[in-house]
Amino acid sequence: MSEAYTTLAASALDTQTAYRLLCGIVAPRPIAWITSVDENGLVNAAPFSSYNYVAHSPPMLAVNIGSRAGVLKDTARNIERGREFVVNVATVHNMELMHQSSAEFAPDESEAQALGLELLPSTQVKPPRIAIAPVQMECRLEHVLKLGRLNTLYIGEVLAFHLSSEVYDGRHVDSVKMQPVARLGGPFYAALGKVFERPILQTPPRGKAPT
Ligand SMILES: Cc1cc2nc3c(=O)[nH]c(=O)nc-3n(C[C@H](O)[C@H](O)[C@H](O)COP(=O)(O)O)c2cc1C
Repeated sequence: MSEAYTTLAASALDTQTAYRLLCGIVAPRPIAWITSVDENGLVNAAPFSSYNYVAHSPPMLAVNIGSRAGVLKDTARNIERGREFVVNVATVHNMELMHQSSAEFAPDESEAQALGLELLPSTQVKPPRIAIAPVQMECRLEHVLKLGRLNTLYIGEVLAFHLSSEVYDGRHVDSVKMQPVARLGGPFYAALGKVFERPILQTPPRGKAPT
């Protein structure tokens, strides 16, 4: 690695610059394609890549939603009101529809309807699942954390996992078969590249590391 670094004090950065840096650095990011419903049952769908799992007993997922010109995005508003959402896994196979659902549809227009997304009923929450996703997770909102001036972290407990037989063998989800699509910085997405296998280590390795 070159010794020439650019050092930027975060306090001197404007919002867009900080956003651009983080999106380029924290990559690849998995994508939660979230379905939620409004007070009239209108189904909203939108992707969010500031997302990860944050607990496993019970299982919990976290997603960060930014506000748009001081106004909550439809997904955030629906989650705060209904306290339920579904995370559908974004894949190479559903990427085009997922991407199209990120456009700024009016709050009273359903992305699911406009894009012709096939929906499946959920078992424990009102928002439905997106059929083209190989994994869907029904979530109930547990924590809301306002972060700084623009962001809110929504943490949901997973109440049900729906796992397609194409990716789940009864014990493991095969991530390679699932073909997750990830977000990079700017307009770029990525599929899985080379997969490396190493044993899970308990005792520290002794001797020289293999080359
Ligand atoms: C792949 C992808 C990932 C995104 N990730 C986020 C995110 O993590 N947080 C966020 O606030 N917006 C994110 N967006 C933008 C939202 O999807 C976009 O603002 C959308 O219009 C929100 O829809 P809604 O108003 O129906 O909730 C992302 C967009 C794309 C295409």
